[in-house]
Amino acid sequence: TTILTSVSNVSIGVIGGSGLYSLDNLKVLGEYSPTTPWGKPSDNLIIAETNTGIKVAFLARHGRGHYLTPTEVPSRANIAALKHIGVKVILAFSAVGSLREEIAPRDFILPTQIIDRTKGVRPFTFYEDGIVGHVMFADPFSSDIADIIYDVQKDLNGPKFHRNKTLICMEGPQFSTRAESHMYRSWGADIINMSVLPEAKLAREAEIAYQMVCMSTDYDCWKETEEAVSVEAVIANLTGNADFARKLLGSVIPVLAEKLEKSQVKSVIDLQGSASNSLMT
Ligand code: ADE
Repeated sequence: TTILTSVSNVSIGVIGGSGLYSLDNLKVLGEYSPTTPWGKPSDNLIIAETNTGIKVAFLARHGRGHYLTPTEVPSRANIAALKHIGVKVILAFSAVGSLREEIAPRDFILPTQIIDRTKGVRPFTFYEDGIVGHVMFADPFSSDIADIIYDVQKDLNGPKFHRNKTLICMEGPQFSTRAESHMYRSWGADIINMSVLPEAKLAREAEIAYQMVCMSTDYDCWKETEEAVSVEAVIANLTGNADFARKLLGSVIPVLAEKLEKSQVKSVIDLQGSASNSLMT
C-alpha cells in the first residue's frame, strides 16, 4: 500500500459500518493516516478516485478488523480527519435492527430522525473549554442526499428501500431487553443501532452534510415469532447487505460527485457558515 503524506480536495467521505470494509469500482490512490487534535481515526483513510477524477475517502468505523466497540469509536478524530481533507458530504453505513414488521431483514432504510439513547460516555461535541456553540439538529440528516440515493437505487434492482424513518441509537454493546425494545416502538422508533451518534452531531458541527444508509439485519427482540437478535443473526445478513452497499455506492458516488462539482447539493450550501452562526462565546 502507498501511504500518502498529504491529501486534499476529497469531497465525499464514506464511513463503513459492520460488514462494509472497502469500496468497489474506484481506483485506490493510497492510504492516509492523519493525527488530529482528537487523536487518530478508527483506521487509515483509504483515498480513492472515480474515473472522472473525483476523490473519495473510505473509513471503516470499527477498524478493518472490527476491533472498536461503538462506545470506543473515536468519532471526533474520524470527523476531524474527513473535514481536514475537504469532505463536504458523508455517506455513513450502519447495520440496524428493525422495530417494525414492514422493515424486514435485508431491507435498506434512509432515516430522517434520531432518538438519542447513548449514555453520555462518548465525547459528543467539538465545543468545549470555553467555546460554547449550539448547532441546529432538528433535521439531523440531509434529505436531499437521501433523495439522490433513493433515486439511484431504483435502477439497481436491489433490496426494498424505506424512507422517513426514525432511528434510535443505544449505547450497547449489549443488545436491548424486550421491555426496552417495546418501549422504543412505543416512542415511535422504527430502527435501532449503536453508531449514528455522536457521528451525526459531530458532522453537523463540522458543517459536513451527512446521510446514514441503514441496512436491516434483524427484528431486535420485540417480535414474538422471531428469535431474539444475536450476533450470528446480524452477521448472516451483513454480507449480502454490504455487497449491495458497495454496488449502491458505485452508482451514487458519480452522481453525487457531479452535483457537488456543479454546486447543486443544497444541504452542502446551506451548511456553509452554520457552525460559526451557532457560537455563543
Ligand atoms: N445493530 C444491528 N441490529 C441491532 C439491534 N437489534 N440493536 C442495536 N444495534 C443493532
